[in-house]
Amino acid sequence: MTERLVTGETTRTDKEHEAQLRPQNFSEFIGQTKVVDNIDLMVRSAIVRKTAMDHVLLSGPPGLGKTSLAMLIARSLGSELHVVSGPAIEKKGDLAAVLTNLKPRDVLFIDEIHRMHITVEEILYSAMEDFRLDILIGQGASARTMQIDLSQFTLIGATTRSGLLSNPLRDRFTAHLNFDYYEPEMLAVIILNNSRKMGIGLSEEAKVQIARRSRGTPRIANRILRRVRDFALVNKRPSVEKEEVKAALCLLDIDDLGLDSMDRKILTVMKNYYQGGPVGIDALSATLGEDKQTIEEVYEPYLLKQGLILRTPRGRVLSENAINHVS
Ligand SMILES: Nc1ncnc2c1ncn2[C@@H]1O[C@H](COP(=O)(O)OP(=O)(O)O)[C@@H](O)[C@H]1O
Ligand SMILES: [Mg+2]
Repeated sequence: MTERLVTGETTRTDKEHEAQLRPQNFSEFIGQTKVVDNIDLMVRSAIVRKTAMDHVLLSGPPGLGKTSLAMLIARSLGSELHVVSGPAIEKKGDLAAVLTNLKPRDVLFIDEIHRMHITVEEILYSAMEDFRLDILIGQGASARTMQIDLSQFTLIGATTRSGLLSNPLRDRFTAHLNFDYYEPEMLAVIILNNSRKMGIGLSEEAKVQIARRSRGTPRIANRILRRVRDFALVNKRPSVEKEEVKAALCLLDIDDLGLDSMDRKILTVMKNYYQGGPVGIDALSATLGEDKQTIEEVYEPYLLKQGLILRTPRGRVLSENAINHVS
């Protein structure tokens, strides 16, 4: 079985590897200038005002730097960062415990905030707006609300699908910042920095090749880097050359357009099963045997961005390019 390269999730090896490769300061955080400029202003303003920074929502496909940026924000504010995952908070009480533990100006990072249970989410409304917890105690006629004051904190929410956030939650974020796929030139800078951190030499051509085939995503560039490093080590080469890149890309099943096997499967099914479309997401998901949400959050954004898939009111259709690309 080939390794699934493009996924919403990070594996344990990924996590350890990424911890090593995370940007340690803003100068190491490459690209996304619009996002960074906004954050820079918000951080400076919070420092001058001596208050918590405004709440911010970071959205964009997986692996583009949302978690890394949240860590940098907390560091530049000199604040403690608390990290929780939206879907992992099952009860109101769990989130209440996290919130009451925050100290003034701490940063709470909620990853995958669009997957939080609605009942849990509701306690965020007053927490974000008034730094207050409203907790309902008892039931029926004897029920009453208890209020607990919280420290002034900053909420950073991260989501791959900002459209799925409820309106009340979305409205409480002062800033909404969108991450975009990276251009190959930006990825090349990230790849060079990270190869140095990993202690591997990289030829110019090897770097350019990896940058072009990383699906605009630093996390994928890191995964390819790890694999080419393995090839160079096994072949006892002092540095990574284009041969190692070619071998790694072949092993990872990444093609000339940087698409992996699942990307190609989507295009192939659309071409051969649905005559190029239009096809609805439910039908596509059933035919592929792949979760609808994963297709929409992880695969489709890049295929749309590359103009391989087009969205029409009647469903998704393949572009001419895509039809020629797959067999
Ligand atoms: N702007 C960036 N500059 C440098 N490296 C980056 C950048 N964005 C992401 N990375 C790299 O990609 C990895 C994954 O990024 P991460 O912040 O976990 O993405 P997300 O939270 O959006 O899924 C990081 O460990 C880092 O090595
Ligand atoms: Mg993340």
